Amino acid sequence: MNSYWLESTNTKDYSKLDNDIETEVSIVGAGMVGVTLAYLLHQQGIKFVLLEKDKVLSSTTANTTAKITSQHGLFYSYLIQNFGKEFAQKYLYSHENAISSIEYIIKSQNIDCDFEKQDAYVYTCSEEKVQEIVTETEMVKALGFQAEFCNEVDLPFKTLGAIKFPNQAQFHPIKYAKGLLEKLPADCIYENSKVVDVKKEGQHYKTYTENGSVKSKYVAITTHYPIIDFPGVYFMKMYQDRSYVVAADIKRDLFQGMYISAEEPVTSFRTAKYGDKRLLLVSGSKHKSGDNNSKLDDNYKNIENYIKMLYSKANILYRWNTQDCITLDKVPYIGEYSKLMPNVFVATGFKKWGMTTSYVAAKIISDKILGVDSVYEDIYSSTRVEPIKNIKEIGNMLKQTAHSLVLNKITPPIIKYEDLKIGTGGVVNYKGMKLGIYKKSEDEVYAVKPYCAHLGCELSWNNLEKTWDCPCHGSRYDYEGNLLNEPSKKNLEKVKIEE
Ligand code: FES
Repeated sequence: MNSYWLESTNTKDYSKLDNDIETEVSIVGAGMVGVTLAYLLHQQGIKFVLLEKDKVLSSTTANTTAKITSQHGLFYSYLIQNFGKEFAQKYLYSHENAISSIEYIIKSQNIDCDFEKQDAYVYTCSEEKVQEIVTETEMVKALGFQAEFCNEVDLPFKTLGAIKFPNQAQFHPIKYAKGLLEKLPADCIYENSKVVDVKKEGQHYKTYTENGSVKSKYVAITTHYPIIDFPGVYFMKMYQDRSYVVAADIKRDLFQGMYISAEEPVTSFRTAKYGDKRLLLVSGSKHKSGDNNSKLDDNYKNIENYIKMLYSKANILYRWNTQDCITLDKVPYIGEYSKLMPNVFVATGFKKWGMTTSYVAAKIISDKILGVDSVYEDIYSSTRVEPIKNIKEIGNMLKQTAHSLVLNKITPPIIKYEDLKIGTGGVVNYKGMKLGIYKKSEDEVYAVKPYCAHLGCELSWNNLEKTWDCPCHGSRYDYEGNLLNEPSKKNLEKVKIEE
């Protein structure tokens, strides 16, 4: 089973870059930010080249829940407390502006993408959270936005209260982004063109792929994870989370609105058009990337059981999961990549709210390229050096890194090779060596050195997806050791074993 968004849409194939070309802006990464940025630049007559390492729109954009909302959990009390009212107001209105801009693009460009206006709610079923929701409602109202406290919502179970943001929206993200791509010159879009380096050469940058290069004055790194470690050091300023989505045909009418719980485990609900029916999308089971344990196998099952408890006739049709970057102070990084790389831009750390944030990011970057002042730019500054507000997260990250780098390396693995069951994997003691082994079958066994090719943290086995995941900064590899998710740039070292 795959993402509903991917399964229900086909995108055109684009060429691979295999020569040296020149343009005004190189955009690295053809997900929602890259495609929106290309669209905004094209509207202004700016030449661009869009480079994608795989197939366009096949990564994070394909695995979202695609809510278009300025309601990012109970976030505004946090923003006001930590950054002040003006900051929170700018954050709120940058996302409100994104909702109306996305709607305007859809209408003006006739993009058929199942766009629907919906109210968004953060609800609670816990007495303890009710006051937090009341406070959040007051805080948001003080920012000048008409949020509302609701005693009841349209979900099929009892809730104790919710905050409503009216006039939000949802859509089919791939249909939307595909609609944008179709407005762009196809000969400026390249897929299967992995960027391996970005170098300053005279007054310009050269963005190198494996088989060609793009010379440009500006470069925008719009990949899920920033592809350059130094300068920037984004791996020290972010962590990654994974979460899971299940889509089901319920065979009856569904609720109105989009919902997310205030309490852990965070559960989110929305519906989507599905022919002449409605599909239910429920997401949850969030955990830190690399924080794997035996319960991982239950992540989809738990959501499916929950859906079946609410709707006994549910037919589970799709399941997918996603990896999200979260900054230590929870505010995305958008703008200059580093003071040492003028005219190179970044957009990352969207904290799972990628639809409006993609628009906010694309608009800020296109304004910077066009020399237009942006009122929102300062709050997202990617080179901000103010003290990290989230001391707990930075403590966790350092602890995890130290543990993985030091303790795991000196502690021998507990599993013996002989004890590894068929269809499972893990870090095992193999003839006195510490190896990462996946026993696909009796005759097919894959072994790797179980240390991340990024900075060497010990990897953990993800039996749900048969991958090696890094608990330090979230790199992932398939069971053969091939790189799936950055910040690592290399594959794992493969080891031949003989029984
Ligand atoms: Fe940085 Fe693994 S992702 S060490």
